[in-house]
Amino acid sequence: MTPVTDEQIAEQIAYYSSRAPEYEDWWHRRGVFDKGPEVNARWEAEAAQALAALTSLDLGSDALEVAPGTGTWTVHVAPRVARLTLVDGSQAMLDLNPVAAREDVRTVVADIFAWDTEERFDSVVFTFWISHVPRERLDAFFAGVARWLRPGGRVFFVDDAPVAATESHVAGTAGQTMVRRLQDGREATIVKNFYRPDELRAAADAAGIDLDVRSTPTYFQYATGVRRTEPD
Ligand SMILES: C[S@@+](CC[C@H](N)C(=O)[O-])C[C@H]1O[C@@H](n2cnc3c(N)ncnc32)[C@H](O)[C@@H]1O
Repeated sequence: MTPVTDEQIAEQIAYYSSRAPEYEDWWHRRGVFDKGPEVNARWEAEAAQALAALTSLDLGSDALEVAPGTGTWTVHVAPRVARLTLVDGSQAMLDLNPVAAREDVRTVVADIFAWDTEERFDSVVFTFWISHVPRERLDAFFAGVARWLRPGGRVFFVDDAPVAATESHVAGTAGQTMVRRLQDGREATIVKNFYRPDELRAAADAAGIDLDVRSTPTYFQYATGVRRTEPD
């Protein structure tokens, strides 16, 4: 598998900045993503299943959300914690995140692969992010998540199932990259990996995180996890 370069990561962030105004059409099943009431209802029911897993998790009082984007999941995290830190590479995505505008929420614009902190959190959340992590950076990413968590801290993530590769904004796939088309016809290459549960569990385990990975029938993969308390 060809490794992803820093230039490709920069292209991925730029793509999301360009996509920001139209991003939520995907989540809310509008325009080209509208598959009709029956299929849309199935999407929403499966999204509710993943959300229930987040809701049942004790996020503690101090949470870090990686790649929160426009905040479709941040709005579910924010009311449940006292302190929230958001780190995303795209200012344009964060500009549309209603929680990022709050003065009591810390917002950082940074490439997550170049970002670090001495702070420790009770929980780390990332939604529709793990599929954008290059394979050769997966172990290091989970090592970061484990480092950012206090022992006993919780992880939640949700992402696409492989069926997402059939959406009409996908113009092609090659290895761990995917070409995406914007509404105005511009194209960009991003990272898109559909990790198997055992791959995710192994990377998390190596970092000291016990992960429980589940799937909804068609659309999503989601996971909850806990940072082990014993030294590795
Ligand atoms: C698919 S969107 C997910 C947004 C949001 N979490 C959601 O569930 O809708 C991916 C997000 O990752 C951000 N992103 C992409 N590459 C990044 C990087 N290297 N560092 C930080 N953020 C990045 C994008 O700006 C975008 O907000």
